[in-house]
Amino acid sequence: MKPLRVALDGPAGAGKSTVAKQAAKALGLTYVDTGAMYRAITWKALQEKINPTDEAALTELSNRVQISFKLTPAGQDVFLDGVDITEAIRTPEVTGNVSAVSAVAGVREAMVKLQQDIAAQTGVLMDGRDIGTVVLPDADVKIWLTASVEERAQRRYNELVAKGQTLDFEQLKADIERRDRFDSGREHSPMKMAEDAVVLDTTGLSIQQVIEKILEICSSADAQK
Ligand code: DC
Repeated sequence: MKPLRVALDGPAGAGKSTVAKQAAKALGLTYVDTGAMYRAITWKALQEKINPTDEAALTELSNRVQISFKLTPAGQDVFLDGVDITEAIRTPEVTGNVSAVSAVAGVREAMVKLQQDIAAQTGVLMDGRDIGTVVLPDADVKIWLTASVEERAQRRYNELVAKGQTLDFEQLKADIERRDRFDSGREHSPMKMAEDAVVLDTTGLSIQQVIEKILEICSSADAQK
């Protein structure tokens, strides 16, 4: 039997990565955080002082660097050309620039190829925005994970405050709304729900409840294979 390929898409702050990591573990699948790849390119572009609107330079950069993941008990570490950038890609500076970088066609082409290469080698649970539509259009399971903007902002706020950052809730909410608009409105593979995706609204659900729902959806898909 071919290993399961699960596409988990949805907007920023829907809680994808937290539940995706744990669901992948329970299903024995490799977790691939595709947002981390776009963040890695953004981090490197900032390091090299590449302008986030310089498409040629960003495309060249995406084809030049090597991004890899290493599984850890807590989730996974992200490396770019061997440098551990797990923490560095979560800064507000990277978050503020990643939408622009991930809208560049050449960047997307390089990352989609990398994602498809990984999925060709192993069963995956891939978390992103365009997995069910572009990266793995024939995935066995497609889930669209969402939650109200209010709840997504609250979760992100709690997460960042726990990490010691000081921020303004309304500002954070406005940033999430801006990022949603930008990610859905871009020309190249916009954030979009696949027509055959199962919608999972996580508003008011605990992490454990969301994981259980994902496992249920996957086990019925597995049974049909
Ligand atoms: O999930 P995240 O917040 O780490 O994603 C970072 C950015 O990358 C987000 O603004 C949208 C973009 N992204 C994308 O365009 N396509 C993906 N498959 C994953 C993320």
